Amino acid sequence: MRCAKVLQLTLAVIKPDAVAHPLILEALHQKILENFIIIRKRDLVWRREDSEKFYAEHAGRFFYQRLVEFMSSGPMRAYILARDDAITHWRGMMGPTKVFRARFTSPNTLRGQYGLTDTRNTTHGSDSTESAKREIAFFFPEFAADDWMEREEQRFRFGLVEYNEQSKIHTLQETR
Ligand code: RTP
Ligand code: MG
Repeated sequence: MRCAKVLQLTLAVIKPDAVAHPLILEALHQKILENFIIIRKRDLVWRREDSEKFYAEHAGRFFYQRLVEFMSSGPMRAYILARDDAITHWRGMMGPTKVFRARFTSPNTLRGQYGLTDTRNTTHGSDSTESAKREIAFFFPEFAADDWMEREEQRFRFGLVEYNEQSKIHTLQETR
């Protein structure tokens, strides 16, 4: 994937409803592969406290308890993804938050295709550069996003990027 525009990073999550189904998880991974450079990938399970902290902005909303319980109910998968306009692109692929709206208005989006309910809606994506930064740090505390932009962005944009089948992420082919 060659790209003239600067690469942007975003945080994408495959939520527990989708990770529970291996075929859906694989289909989502393939969609991601077709559209992004995968910089990092992590499979994990949240404790309730992680869920509460991540969704603190929604505390008090009618769906908060439901959301917090669901997000700590089983395994999920987080990715750091890169491409031009990664944040907008991933959110466009996800589709509307509400699954019944997604099915009706945007049937080809990920939520339109795989979402179960307004809570169990398959994916998460950062909604701004600030939230991407915060959310990447939340899931990948060891990843230095600013350093990556400074040192790696151009190398990924112009270099030879390979997909590693084992780790399921992209790496740079070393030049001699
Ligand atoms: P996300 O944060 O997961 O990428 O989704 P979003 O920006 O499209 O939606 P947001 O408003 O940030 O809501 C976060 C998550 O809360 C759950 N939710 N349930 N009506 C409901 O029952 C309701 N509304 C929101 C969803 O899981 C949503 O993704
Ligand atoms: Mg959101």
